[in-house]
Amino acid sequence: MSSVDLAIVGFGRIGRIHAENILSMQGANLKIIVDPILDIDEGLKRRGIQQSKNIADLFSLQKIDGVIICSPSNYHVEQIKELSKATKNIFCEKPLGLSIKEIMEVKSLVDSKNLNLHVGFNRRFDPDFSSLKLSIVSGDIGDLHMIKIISRDPSPPPISYIEKSGGMFLDMTIHDFDMVKYLSGVEISEIYAKGDCFIDPEIKKANDIDTAIINMTLKNGILATINNSRKAVYGYDQRIEVLGSKGTMIVGNKLLHGVRKGTKDGFTSANPKNFFIDRYKESYQIEIADFIRSTSGETVDHANVDDGLHALKIGLATNKSLLKNKPIQL
Ligand SMILES: NC(=O)c1ccc[n+]([C@@H]2O[C@H](COP(=O)([O-])OP(=O)(O)OC[C@H]3O[C@@H](n4cnc5c(N)ncnc54)[C@H](O)[C@@H]3O)[C@@H](O)[C@H]2O)c1
Repeated sequence: MSSVDLAIVGFGRIGRIHAENILSMQGANLKIIVDPILDIDEGLKRRGIQQSKNIADLFSLQKIDGVIICSPSNYHVEQIKELSKATKNIFCEKPLGLSIKEIMEVKSLVDSKNLNLHVGFNRRFDPDFSSLKLSIVSGDIGDLHMIKIISRDPSPPPISYIEKSGGMFLDMTIHDFDMVKYLSGVEISEIYAKGDCFIDPEIKKANDIDTAIINMTLKNGILATINNSRKAVYGYDQRIEVLGSKGTMIVGNKLLHGVRKGTKDGFTSANPKNFFIDRYKESYQIEIADFIRSTSGETVDHANVDDGLHALKIGLATNKSLLKNKPIQL
């Protein structure tokens, strides 16, 4: 496999994870990092990685084979449009965009320019969840009847992040909406959400919620439910249970360590991992390795523009359901 030259746009929490992974992988060179706010990182400079505050500098490079967009969500679509002038291979973090109109524009661009666009639904690459999907598809539990997702963060992000995030359903639950589609292979057709703000009144002031229960029906009648919170005091709570005609399958939390202690007071085990950075570490490595392979011309499975559109449509319908306090059909 020949080596590909990559750029990262937006160098915050997730941009740094992707950068570290690229730097540890064969077959890819990280050429440039663009972030309008950050100061020069001497360590990266020593490794020959160009750093710029201006996206235009990316265009002055001789060759760029792929770009990874990790800027705040409100910039994704304008940057996909701009960067599609430099490369066909674009990996964009979730959510792909914040309105259906702008994602439809991306869809036209994907078709007209034959873009290889990957959407950062990293949980599809988590080894537990991909095994779960494989077992469902193999028929291990017969016909699928129900999907139950518990997805709770350990603590909310800063208000400045929340303000640009598009709200909890588009920022956080969007992973879970995608997981429902990924596991079942079917789109969501009806959604009914209940939600409120229990954790921080500042979140309410930012016009958002921090706790929700969402019930869904899929196009083939399967039932699904998502249970979200921005604050679980015991760690990053990520569990999935599926029920079918021949049984059930459960993916539990990944724990900080594997020791289970038993004393006269009872049994205890470790807390769940801290947050997405440690819980989903392997998934970020696999999704970027796959992007690199597809940038080199290999065919790989990945979330595409239609998956980005589906998750956004569901997120917007969930906002509407909460506002109107009634089920919304899609
Ligand atoms: N897949 C995942 O698990 C996951 C996890 C976290 C975040 N995300 C997504 O990644 C994106 C970034 O989130 P984050 O948590 O890294 O945020 P962050 O605030 O930590 O980082 C964003 C970075 O983008 C930079 N930036 C601001 N304006 C920019 C612009 N116009 N162009 C380029 N860079 C710009 C900021 O300086 C900052 O360094 C969001 O869309 C978020 O939804 C995905």
